[in-house]
Amino acid sequence: MKITVQTNSGAHAFDCEPGENLLYAGLRHGLTLPHDCATGTCGTCRGRVVEGDVRLLWDEAPGLKFCKQEKGDVIMCQAVASDDCVLRVPSNTVGVLEGFTVPSYRRGTIGNVRMLTHDVIDFDMTLDAPLRFAAGQFVVFEIPGLIGRRAYSMVNYSEETETLSFVVKRKPDGGFSDWLFDSNVSGAAIKVFGPLGRATFHPEEDKNVVCIGGGSGIAGMMSIVARASRERYFDDHKGYVFFGVRSLADCFYLERFSEAVLQGGSNLEVTVALSDEPIPHATHPDAPALKLAEGVVHEVASRSMAGHYDNMVGYVAGPEPMVDAARRVLAREGQIASADIRYDKFS
Ligand SMILES: Cc1cc2nc3c(=O)[nH]c(=O)nc-3n(C[C@H](O)[C@H](O)[C@H](O)COP(=O)(O)OP(=O)(O)OC[C@H]3O[C@@H](n4cnc5c(N)ncnc54)[C@H](O)[C@@H]3O)c2cc1C
Ligand code: FES
Repeated sequence: MKITVQTNSGAHAFDCEPGENLLYAGLRHGLTLPHDCATGTCGTCRGRVVEGDVRLLWDEAPGLKFCKQEKGDVIMCQAVASDDCVLRVPSNTVGVLEGFTVPSYRRGTIGNVRMLTHDVIDFDMTLDAPLRFAAGQFVVFEIPGLIGRRAYSMVNYSEETETLSFVVKRKPDGGFSDWLFDSNVSGAAIKVFGPLGRATFHPEEDKNVVCIGGGSGIAGMMSIVARASRERYFDDHKGYVFFGVRSLADCFYLERFSEAVLQGGSNLEVTVALSDEPIPHATHPDAPALKLAEGVVHEVASRSMAGHYDNMVGYVAGPEPMVDAARRVLAREGQIASADIRYDKFS
């Protein structure tokens, strides 16, 4: 069926499969439809149905609070059409995707599952076709038997690869969390859509880098640090990574960070911020290349970054309140332009 979106920059039409959500249909045709989470929480993908019959897949989606449903507003990532339809999308910037891989569907098989802490797991996913993605991007999973989709940021980086790595923090009573932590998921096949996301790192921008990640929010930053280290970016750029966890027992990826710091020399600093435990030393007892600081991660970043904001791009990811607080630090204290503060809210 044919979907037409009317935008401030003109009308665009694309095909949609029966049962496919309108956002993914447009994105896989290379259109830059507005979106952030791609899973129903942020409301960025809202559009107003002008013609046709459109049904919502998730009536309680948090993103709907940004919509006037009585006027026909929907969120496209949770909307399916029963026939041709026309939507009005309030955006000036819809056009053809440039510089990023056009997202598509793949099948992935889970392997190499490892428990990193009591509530954090990482695993690999082998895809049925190689994927090119930018460091900092994410994909969306669809699990048989689980309603809805879940977004996860790639931890690894490779120009083009069939293997993606992920790290997931358990959410109490979460659908994907319970499935991942309570069953043997090795060998499980998953539908994957992506790559998505604009919280991405591009070495050619030639900027110093600050990353602020809460818990598994560090995922995309691992990918950014992996790419930067591979290209020896920290030979002539500064990098500051702030990794927020509750206690020493909640830390993970210390070895990878230590290797990056040892390679980056004095230009890369990684600070682990402990919110719920006094710090025993100024450096991590198991990873002396990493600094330790006491406090919530955006406050630690605020204290440490004063006077270091020259020519900076910032990356923030994690729980929504932490992301909002860290963005304020980078905007107000760092005077970083909004286009250079890139973030993912793990809502
Ligand atoms: C861009 C982005 C990147 C992320 N990256 C990571 C990461 O790298 N690591 C990580 O640990 N977490 C990440 N998250 C959070 C992750 O997507 C999940 O929200 C989290 O793991 C909890 O999932 P759950 O299934 O356990 O919890 P649940 O509470 O069961 O589900 C959480 C999410 O699933 C979707 N959902 C739930 N119910 C429905 C329904 N009935 N219909 C449709 N959709 C539904 C919604 O999007 C909801 O917010 C990311 C989130 C975003 C937006
Ligand atoms: S992109 Fe659809 S609600 Fe976030």
